Amino acid sequence: MPLVNLTAVLPNAQRLGYAVPSFNVCTLEMIAGVLQAAEMVRSPVIIALAERHFRQINPWHISAAIREGAHRAKIPVVLHLDHAASLEGVKLGIELGCTSVMIDGSRLPFGENVAVTRKAVEIARAHEVSVEGELGSIGGSEGEVQGGKEPKLYTNPDEAAQFALETGVDALAVAIGTVHGLYRTAPQLQFELLEQIRRSTEAFLVLHGGTSLPDSDFARLIERGITKINIFTELSLRSAERIRKNLERSEGAIGITESLEGVTMEIAEAARRFFQVFRGVGRSESLL
Ligand code: 13P
Repeated sequence: MPLVNLTAVLPNAQRLGYAVPSFNVCTLEMIAGVLQAAEMVRSPVIIALAERHFRQINPWHISAAIREGAHRAKIPVVLHLDHAASLEGVKLGIELGCTSVMIDGSRLPFGENVAVTRKAVEIARAHEVSVEGELGSIGGSEGEVQGGKEPKLYTNPDEAAQFALETGVDALAVAIGTVHGLYRTAPQLQFELLEQIRRSTEAFLVLHGGTSLPDSDFARLIERGITKINIFTELSLRSAERIRKNLERSEGAIGITESLEGVTMEIAEAARRFFQVFRGVGRSESLL
């Protein structure tokens, strides 16, 4: 199917009470595993590229592989750019064929975050690309085994309302107690704050830092209006663990194909569990 943007999948999730996982990928095995799982459970999926991974992976190669995979898939796929730090990043994302981009101005003062996000929306709209902004500060760095302790700054509901209105973003990443990477201490999610944010804006609400939250938290987050949940660390660690086991098991030297054996299946299993926990199974049918 042709790629779609967030506005093609998130309204249905909001109406029916489920969340669409957004998986950051950086290898062919991750792309294949995520698409295999999404097709198996018949769920829409968001496949994301993280700007910070462009130091290690060629964004043109990986985006082309995702576009090709999505084209062959029988489910709606969004190609998203995660955490663009600047408008140049947003423009690159659009050139890469992303149908959705995130501009992360969360480190800037409120007014500057509004200004850069509004500009990103202006640029993206011309290409029918959806935009996610971030307000508040989600700690840690995706993929890190030592994540942040807690967000440095929670999202303020009044600011969320003003931010969404003044920027026109489609989706808003909220800081309510999750961090990227693994948790150093058990997360204390701010469910009441999430309810207030939900009441204050109509933007689709996004949760970053989905790895290693308990299933019961996911249910409460989805009930309170989260429709997009970002995952990277779990897929990253499971890929690495599988490769480590392959290397350990081998008696002599093994080649690259042998060391990658089973990684796609490992990713597909991990992704399938997220679709199930996020109540996404069978949802692509109502979108086709
Ligand atoms: P995790 O690091 O918890 O998987 O979160 C990924 C993320 O939020 C990417 O934006």
